[in-house]
Amino acid sequence: MKKRVLSGMRATGRLHLGNYLGAAKGYLELSDSGEYDTFYMVADAHAVTTPFEPSELAQSRINVIMDYLAVGLNPEKSTLFIQSMVPEHFELAHYFASVMSIARMQHLPTFKEKVKQYPNAASMALLNYPILMAADILVYKASLVPVGIDQEPHLEVAREIARKMNEMYGTDFPEPAIFKTNSPYVPSLLGEGKMSKTVEGSYINLTDDLETIQSKLAGAPTDSGKGDKIPSEGGVANLLKFVELFEGEEKRKSYESQYMESGIRYGDLKKELAAAIFAELKPIQEKRRELEKNPDYVTKVIEEGAEKARVVASLTLTEVKEKMGLQS
Ligand code: TRP
Repeated sequence: MKKRVLSGMRATGRLHLGNYLGAAKGYLELSDSGEYDTFYMVADAHAVTTPFEPSELAQSRINVIMDYLAVGLNPEKSTLFIQSMVPEHFELAHYFASVMSIARMQHLPTFKEKVKQYPNAASMALLNYPILMAADILVYKASLVPVGIDQEPHLEVAREIARKMNEMYGTDFPEPAIFKTNSPYVPSLLGEGKMSKTVEGSYINLTDDLETIQSKLAGAPTDSGKGDKIPSEGGVANLLKFVELFEGEEKRKSYESQYMESGIRYGDLKKELAAAIFAELKPIQEKRRELEKNPDYVTKVIEEGAEKARVVASLTLTEVKEKMGLQS
């Protein structure tokens, strides 16, 4: 049997360039390789673990599926689905919660960060976030999870749960690990940290037109354009990283020599870069516009995805319930 891959994104608005390069392109690569059984979901139920707006969530969960389709994920090759439409995730998460201690969950760095960020909204759902994520993965017995390194503490929880369940109840859950794809680190346009939806000015949307990309790049910090050492961090380093991602290694090298010699003219660099970024986004935007004209197709993909996912998930639930004495 093919190894199973599962990943997902939180339903918080549309995908941006960072999600596309850093995650969705990796999904596509694994799906197209034909070597794995791939499941990609929209983590809409995870969105309720921090403050949210119901009307926005209702849009986001569909938008993310449409973005998956627009970047080229194929529902014939991958199971594309919305988490909350597969209730087995929540049922399994409850059984998983019984093998984890409160103290273990409270000590997770991701939990502590969110509590700091939302001191008045530290809910039980937030404490349970990693347990639900473990259920997302293990309900399909997926062993490979293409996510960023920031998710490693969550995968440790998933492995711990798998081990405990196997020891206590004789299940055969795999211990899931991060699956590294060729995804690059996508930096912020502002010169610090990574491209993130929560940092205004740091990101380019998949929907941005050429003028918008140009004006966002115009705001990216630069220097005099000349020096005896290529900056390894900050605005210029990040711009060069984007040049490499969208115009190739050679182009980056030529700018690097300019930096050491005649000097870079950032106006020209940004103009060319904006055009290169837009050229990559244009087909995605066209596909997306087609999907918008065809809501019935999108609904069908969503319904069929949930059905396909439930076939697999319900088998796991039956097994777990039998082994835990919940079925006789
Ligand atoms: N926690 C992940 C993130 O913030 C999203 C997520 C939820 C996820 N469930 C998952 C990722 C299962 C991989 C597998 O990016």
